[in-house]
Amino acid sequence: MHLDCVAVAAAFGLGRPLGPWRPLANGGAPSDSRVLVTTRGRWVVRTDRLLGEWHREQAHRVHRLQSAAWEAGITMPRPVEPPSPAIGFWHNPAGEALVRVSEWLEGHDLRRAEAPSDADLSKPAEWVGSTLARIALLGTGSGAGADDGIALHSLAEWQEWVGEAGASDHPVAPSAHALLPVVADATTLIQDALRNPPGTVLVHGDTSRANVLRTSDGYALIDWEGVRADVPWWEAVNVAFRFATPFNGPTAEGDPRVVRPLLAAYLDRGGPGGPATVSAFAGMLRSQLATMAWCLWLALGHRQADTGQRAFGLRMVTFAARDLPRVMRSLERWTALLR
Ligand SMILES: Nc1ncnc2c1ncn2[C@@H]1O[C@H](COP(=O)(O)OP(=O)(O)O)[C@@H](O)[C@H]1O
Ligand SMILES: [Mg+2]
Repeated sequence: MHLDCVAVAAAFGLGRPLGPWRPLANGGAPSDSRVLVTTRGRWVVRTDRLLGEWHREQAHRVHRLQSAAWEAGITMPRPVEPPSPAIGFWHNPAGEALVRVSEWLEGHDLRRAEAPSDADLSKPAEWVGSTLARIALLGTGSGAGADDGIALHSLAEWQEWVGEAGASDHPVAPSAHALLPVVADATTLIQDALRNPPGTVLVHGDTSRANVLRTSDGYALIDWEGVRADVPWWEAVNVAFRFATPFNGPTAEGDPRVVRPLLAAYLDRGGPGGPATVSAFAGMLRSQLATMAWCLWLALGHRQADTGQRAFGLRMVTFAARDLPRVMRSLERWTALLR
């Protein structure tokens, strides 16, 4: 099947398209999604390419958690059941082609809020905290093995990528090089925390202001593609310290107006707690390192990155090199917000 809007609408039973699909506005960040209006409604169509066995397993993880969350009444755009052949919520018509469809929800994500005080992020922070607790309590703990979490790359691998950037005099080289000390410190903290590994569950994995919609009926959590296993307390802390920032990028903020209501709502709703020590930041750092590695690969043109993705990767690595050292230095002080 050629992935045009008529074929997708027919395959998913969406009715007849009323016009071509349009790329989804994504706040300047690249996106694989489009909006389609048909005789039966408005839809978000996401496309991807099946990149290997890990990708197939990821699709099943997403399906397992998102279905459980949908059934438990966690607000999200309804995922449309794919026709066969399917892999999780993806339709895999032929070869590597993947396409999935969700209902459109009328609303806005929370990225536009300039500063927490302007937008009053405490209300959405409370909603997010209790939603993270509900997700943690869905009972996905068994079967969430070590391979379902975020890989921690070795320093040797980081040095190799930095070397690759340097060898071609790539514009990302100075920032990538400057990142190495903070990568080393963060890696040590994560390895220490993993010495007594706490139990994991499946988590949404990309909960941020970019992926929470405010609608006339309340909030909704979108973009479930990042589902992975993690320690629920680490994930709650990760989200709490990144929710004052526009999306889950390189930075973090210890803003009490966001962190306190989010974690209080999480614990009130029965989310599993954990120690108020720097170990609680292991999940956040592991996620930031993985994001930065991905951005470095994009900047270098790996993963078939196009021009927009390369520029995005370069921007993120440059920003991380400036900002991540501040984040690392703040962690000890930020533990006061965990009590
Ligand atoms: N079902 C939806 N209804 C309304 N807006 C959506 C929907 N899905 C996505 N969006 C908007 O598009 C943006 C990008 O979509 P998302 O699914 O998060 O993809 P990405 O992986 O590119 O972040 C979101 O931040 C949101 O503003
Ligand atoms: Mg998103």
